[in-house]
Amino acid sequence: MPIVSMRQLLDEAAKGGYGVGAFNVNDMEQIQAIMAAAVETKSPVIMQASRGARSFAQDRYLFHLMLAANELNPGIPMAFHQDHGNSFETCKSAIELGFTSVMMDGSLREDGKTPSTFEENVEVTRRVVEFAHSRGITVEGEIGVLGGVEDGHGAGGSGLEHVTDPDQAVEFAERTGVDALAIAIGTSHGAYKFNKKPDGSVLKMNILIEIHKRLPHTHLVMHGSSSVPKDLQAIVNQYGGKLKETWGVPIEEIQLGIRNGVRKINVDTDNRLAITGAIRKVFWETPEKFDPRDYLKPAREAMAKVVAERMREFGQAGHAGDYAPIPIAEMAKGYESGALDTRPSLAGAR
Ligand code: G3H
Ligand code: 13P
Ligand code: ZN
Repeated sequence: MPIVSMRQLLDEAAKGGYGVGAFNVNDMEQIQAIMAAAVETKSPVIMQASRGARSFAQDRYLFHLMLAANELNPGIPMAFHQDHGNSFETCKSAIELGFTSVMMDGSLREDGKTPSTFEENVEVTRRVVEFAHSRGITVEGEIGVLGGVEDGHGAGGSGLEHVTDPDQAVEFAERTGVDALAIAIGTSHGAYKFNKKPDGSVLKMNILIEIHKRLPHTHLVMHGSSSVPKDLQAIVNQYGGKLKETWGVPIEEIQLGIRNGVRKINVDTDNRLAITGAIRKVFWETPEKFDPRDYLKPAREAMAKVVAERMREFGQAGHAGDYAPIPIAEMAKGYESGALDTRPSLAGAR
């Protein structure tokens, strides 16, 4: 099966009423872990690479590893996505590399830290949409700003300072024509999201629900959606790690989001914790070992277990074989004719 556009995966998810996890990759073991989980659960796959991942692995290595995953698993629909593109050039280079989807995160300026103005965000995102859609490529935008500083994304703080304004979300979708929209509802990147289990009032699910009602054709995206499970924290700390106590996004809240238009759920930290815990365990229990395969294999298995769990929880499990891939050139025609237009003003005309 060719690599498909993320838009097709998300349209299918909307029809089926489920969400699709978007898992970050930096190396071969993470790519293999996702594919093992997808085969086990029969799930479609969104594999995403941050700018940091592209620079760590180098574009050609990373892309060819992703291609190998696709080649070896012809029954699994897969989209390759640029996570948190910081500029038109980053998105363009991802498309030229062969990615079928890009996130233009215009909520921040190019430095990835300073919040941009609404007009700046509209302008750069609109430009990316024009370039991407004419080539059949999906675009995710972001409005509102996530919290978290430790991974270089987000404007810092708790994640509640820059919650998305629904009026701005509607105007943004109308003026840019994005396929998917990341909104800020109080989540943040990284392990340290909340200092107690967030109840319904901490995450602004009411805002998400309102945005979905007003933008029914735009797929909503939840970033910072690791659940930071206690058992993964405990394994890391049991074997010499020093994680402070922390809470992530409860699965029930993500599932509530999925019932209200969330189609893409970004998860990275949970996999990082699973990998680190597994490697620490080997180092701690058998310090005489030095063959990297002795710790990379359990690390890969630990990540595959988390990914499979999320695939089941998000509802994508069992949906890999539901549809035939739409060629990217066909997607381009769909954008050109207006058939794939998500803008609210055109919704009635579809
Ligand atoms: O957006 C955050 C992802 O966890 C990727 O993080 O930029 O450190 O690769 P990264
Ligand atoms: P987490 O840090 O919660 O895994 O979020 C990942 C993310 O949003 C990647 O874009
Ligand atoms: Zn993110």
